[in-house]
Amino acid sequence: MIYAANFKTNHTRQSTREYLGRLQPQLIKKHPNDKVYIFPPLTALDDYTSADFTIGAQNAYPVKNGAFTGEVGIEQLAEFNIKTILIGHSERRDILGESQEEVAKKFAFFKEQGFEIIYCIGESLEIREQGIEAVMEHLISQFEGIDTTYENFVVAYEPIWAIGTGRTASVEEITQTHNALKKVVDKPLLYGGSVKGANIAEISAIENVDGVLVGGASLKTETFLELVLH
Ligand code: PGA
Repeated sequence: MIYAANFKTNHTRQSTREYLGRLQPQLIKKHPNDKVYIFPPLTALDDYTSADFTIGAQNAYPVKNGAFTGEVGIEQLAEFNIKTILIGHSERRDILGESQEEVAKKFAFFKEQGFEIIYCIGESLEIREQGIEAVMEHLISQFEGIDTTYENFVVAYEPIWAIGTGRTASVEEITQTHNALKKVVDKPLLYGGSVKGANIAEISAIENVDGVLVGGASLKTETFLELVLH
């Protein structure tokens, strides 16, 4: 299993350091094959070298450096040995207005740099209500321009209506969607959307769920550890 914590715009440099300080000694109890990723805000990046977890960037601009006010490129990530990135999160697509074309451009750039990419896809409630065929059509459209054969690539299925809402997709919905996705892209497949201590056992038991991407429940070390050590 992969356990990925997405802090979004939460935590500071100091609280991230404290969080990781509490997390690290507990990770000795995790299953040796399980992998833990933490995506703190960009200002909290540092060179946290650990065999027990990987730090990634929630976002970056697809350049080495240059005149892109407000963005960071790989030169800034390299200072902290960051080689993992989230691309395509629905908050970036919907709130920050990233088009599929821009997302695909980012993917191609970070692939070229050999980054490990956690690539997010997900449908709105309106599409979910139209049924699985509409859902799959939408999800497949989010692979447009993406080299799905890239070896360093993990997919995260996150229904938008389940993110931060406390409303998790049902076991049936996750099973059906993950089974269909695995036929399209044979890569590790995470589920994200209101994952927490109360539902991790049933979600992680689903056959084609290879891990979870967690927002709210990852913000406290204790609640994230409930997932990792469940
Ligand atoms: P959530 O967020 O766990 O708070 O629903 C998941 C995500 O956006 O990655």
